Amino acid sequence: KVPNVITIDGPSGSGKGTLAARLAVHYGYNLLDSGALYRLLGLKAEQEGLFHEGAFRGNVIPTEQLANLALTLDIQFIPDADQQLLVLLDGHDVTQVIRTEQTGHLASQVAVIPEVREALLQRQRDFAVQPGLIADGRDMGTVVFPDAPAKIYLTASANARAERRVKQLQNMAIDANIDNILSDIVARDRRDMERAIAPLKPADDALIVDSSSKGIDEVLAELIRYIDLHV
Ligand code: C5P
Repeated sequence: KVPNVITIDGPSGSGKGTLAARLAVHYGYNLLDSGALYRLLGLKAEQEGLFHEGAFRGNVIPTEQLANLALTLDIQFIPDADQQLLVLLDGHDVTQVIRTEQTGHLASQVAVIPEVREALLQRQRDFAVQPGLIADGRDMGTVVFPDAPAKIYLTASANARAERRVKQLQNMAIDANIDNILSDIVARDRRDMERAIAPLKPADDALIVDSSSKGIDEVLAELIRYIDLHV
């Protein structure tokens, strides 16, 4: 029997990460945070000196080196009971550092390279083990798991997402400016949606949910109803 795969795609700040973790707990499934893979690769590339001041050194994309790093990346995801992941790179705890805006910026630069996405494809599919997988990302339903029996596309207005991000940062005692965050979100959306390879978009057979004016518990209940009908 093939493991059940449930895909959940959407822009950052849509509540996807939280909901994916809650769904993984609810169903007792494995969790793939594919964004973390791109973040880890961005971080590793930086450690290897491939970046200079946030851009590729000499403005030349080191495609082959990045594809090799993607294939050999030494990573571990260790979930706790709430499916909060402890993330290790080369055996070191990088749980916090991969979540910074800087690492997000590196991630989105490596994510536009076709050879990188290709190299990460099998690594992502390897997460699909019994009894099932919740796969969180941008192209889970369209590219990585096109045959998944249940696909969700979670979205929210740019304003709603910016407000959530400000709250998140304030909770971590980090100063946040809503206007800067909003313009970052709009720019990142555009990059993710307009890129040539694996752009962010709903799969044809995805359930589209807008979480702008809904609480997390309400959305969770809606997703569980949908998944129970399809899996
Ligand atoms: O979801 P998260 O913000 O952690 O993702 C970081 C970046 O990695 C995204 O902005 C996107 O460019 C890239 N990404 C991707 N495909 C995925 C997951 C993330 O291209 N499946």
